[in-house]
Amino acid sequence: MSKSFIEVTGLTKRFPAPKGGEPLTVFENANFGIEKGEFVCIIGHSGCGKSTIMNILAGLDQPTEGGIVMGGKEVSGPSLDRGVVFQNYSLLPWLSALKNVMFGVRARHPEWSRSQVYEHSQKYLEMVGLTGGAEHRKPAQLSGGMRQRVSIARAFAIQPQLLLLDEPFGALDALTRGTIQDELTRIWSGSEQTVFMITHDVDEAILLSDRILLMTNGPYARVAESVVVDIPRPRDRAEIIHNPGYYKIRNHLVEFLARRSKELAGNREHSGEPPVTVRPAKDDADDKERQSTSRPKLVSIAS
Ligand SMILES: Nc1ncnc2c1ncn2[C@@H]1O[C@H](COP(=O)(O)OP(=O)(O)O)[C@@H](O)[C@H]1O
Ligand SMILES: [Mg+2]
Repeated sequence: MSKSFIEVTGLTKRFPAPKGGEPLTVFENANFGIEKGEFVCIIGHSGCGKSTIMNILAGLDQPTEGGIVMGGKEVSGPSLDRGVVFQNYSLLPWLSALKNVMFGVRARHPEWSRSQVYEHSQKYLEMVGLTGGAEHRKPAQLSGGMRQRVSIARAFAIQPQLLLLDEPFGALDALTRGTIQDELTRIWSGSEQTVFMITHDVDEAILLSDRILLMTNGPYARVAESVVVDIPRPRDRAEIIHNPGYYKIRNHLVEFLARRSKELAGNREHSGEPPVTVRPAKDDADDKERQSTSRPKLVSIAS
């Protein structure tokens, strides 16, 4: 098997119990890969360990066992090759929106002149619709949605090889969310960037991803399935719902979240196995079979 751009191997995270006793095993022996340039979303119920996986990918947290290799190099700490957008927009409060973005760009390109840094930063703030003076305000003077747009601009502006997004659009109104989803797709499709994004919005996941990883509930959560979204691009939010594959994928995701994520929870029988690849849009017969059984059906396991 050829190596993926990102190889997650035997990844385990345990947190010590507050009063001694059994530690909390969030996930154990997770194995999966992400290809270069792929857009991957991960979905699972709150508390299953999505943010923990992302923090380990970012190099901000360490696994208890196992590890991650990106581009042939072990992930062992934060790096400008990996840009992160958190759920709670972590901006530097004493800097304006523009200076928050410039701070990252300057770190990425120390050889650039001040005007290069400025223009590059402005361009990304414009992309997320922060202009007309708003870029000179400090985080406390911006709405939640605006702050989130600044953190998105900051992450995009450093053009990392891997963009890590932890429910980045949750706090945005529907209109802004749609605009930024479109911008994200545009920036990603014109680059070599790989995106790993946590979302709880199944429609957002289908619109954006090449592949959706599904996690069972914790503890001992597993990345149980890898759902291939083989809907052609470019995708338009108004058109995509007319694609015959759309509701097959959507139903599959909803069914997993509503039922199988619980049924498979804590089941360590398949520990260490890579996620099962599923193509709901292609496999009609399999879909029917899945509805009649509670266990995931092995469809086409990645070789
Ligand atoms: N620093 C920590 N110490 C102890 N437990 C933690 C810590 N961080 C997360 N957890 C626990 O690990 C589990 C997974 O958390 P998290 O990765 O944030 O889940 P998700 O992002 O999927 O909602 C939860 O049960 C959470 O309470
Ligand atoms: Mg989380």
